[in-house]
Amino acid sequence: MVDFSMVFPAGFLWGTATAAHQVEGGSPPNNWTRWEEAGRVFRQQRAGLACDWWGGRYAEDFERAAELHNNAHRFSVEWSRVEPEPGRYDDAALQHYADMVSALHARGLAPLITLHHFSNPLWIEDQGGWTNPATIGHFERFVQRVVEALGGGVSTWCTINEPMVYATQGYLFGYFPPGARSFGQTIRVAENLLRAHAAAYHAIKALQPDAQVGLAKHQIALKPGFPALVHRRALNIVDNFFNRAFVHALTTGTLRFPSRTVSVPEARDTLDWIGLNYYYRFRVTFNLLAPRQLFLRQARPRDGIPGPGDTGEIWPEGLFGEIKRLFEMTGKPLYITENGVPDIDDSIRPLALIRSLRSVWQAINHNYPVRGYFFWSLVDNFEWAEGYDPRFRFGLYGCDAETQQRVKRRSADLYGEIGAANALTAEMVRRYVPGQAEALFPGVKVKSSVELPQP
Ligand code: GAL
Repeated sequence: MVDFSMVFPAGFLWGTATAAHQVEGGSPPNNWTRWEEAGRVFRQQRAGLACDWWGGRYAEDFERAAELHNNAHRFSVEWSRVEPEPGRYDDAALQHYADMVSALHARGLAPLITLHHFSNPLWIEDQGGWTNPATIGHFERFVQRVVEALGGGVSTWCTINEPMVYATQGYLFGYFPPGARSFGQTIRVAENLLRAHAAAYHAIKALQPDAQVGLAKHQIALKPGFPALVHRRALNIVDNFFNRAFVHALTTGTLRFPSRTVSVPEARDTLDWIGLNYYYRFRVTFNLLAPRQLFLRQARPRDGIPGPGDTGEIWPEGLFGEIKRLFEMTGKPLYITENGVPDIDDSIRPLALIRSLRSVWQAINHNYPVRGYFFWSLVDNFEWAEGYDPRFRFGLYGCDAETQQRVKRRSADLYGEIGAANALTAEMVRRYVPGQAEALFPGVKVKSSVELPQP
């Protein structure tokens, strides 16, 4: 038996992902600063300095990413900085983002830029945010400005991050701004985001025909409660609503929700790639009283690891199935645009990372075209409604928003070794998660007794 390596394809992208409001600090007025001021974040916290990327610390963090042998990074552009008032664009803000792109290139990191990641300028919010179809045109013009300013250094764009998370958290569960609880609004927001994606896709292609444009879709793995026969129907409703409908619309131009079907022909075939954001598995139990929770419960961990709070279980093996079905639905190359675990002690992250990459590697070896993996996240950051809750620290590096001190976690070392080797090896597994190697890779304990002939 030869010792085992999971080698990734040549040119595979290894990176991390971040989002503007979570790392920049000092955001101008946007929907999140308002939410923070209203005391709606964990312990009334505010993003504050975050990771101080607007103050320039992106450079030292990009240096860290380069030291981890990353060759890519995903970050987002903050609309409220670029267009603080309708039609007034801030050239200095655009220059700041252009500098960030150059700083990535200087370190051998390819940029993947997200154009909407949960945050809106207040003036957009005040005119109804994404419930208002006028937002689509505003977004399109903002996208054009950003592409004109950064396009020379960027060829891969992500229009919108997690449209269904944005729609449900903000308009169904009321957990994100603006805190609405309405099915009707949720669906309207999803519809407008779809139109905005389509508008952005076409606008980017017109300016930059060779650009690769996609979208990051959050998928949740689901399993039915017991007995499965009863609960599977609820599971299918959730699955169609949250996981499938939007993706389907990106290829067909038809957005189909249980209560409403809309035709958006301009959205048909508007993906050059699809991004998968994957974190948790949930159990779905049919409970007539809880449709607004989408019938979701944290899955009872068996193969998984319990996640914090109301999140699902951490079940890295779900990646394979989500990659498979995103490919089956779109036929497009994939990036894992986010995957990670909240773990301040770094006690489960190395194992979760290894299991996740095993799952991605298996998918690649089934010929699913996964082109890169972006770990969430490079440094601890402002976790939306969870703020700086210690249970929600996602970084390869710890980061204290007050002192700005970074602390390297072991997972960062592991991720660096994987990037350097473009492979996950059994030897790394033995060192980082001792005792797990045999369970994860049957047969790895037996070292090769046969010398292979030299070429
Ligand atoms: C995603 C989101 C990220 C980050 C991550 C960790 O849904 O896109 O911004 O917060 O979850 O929870």
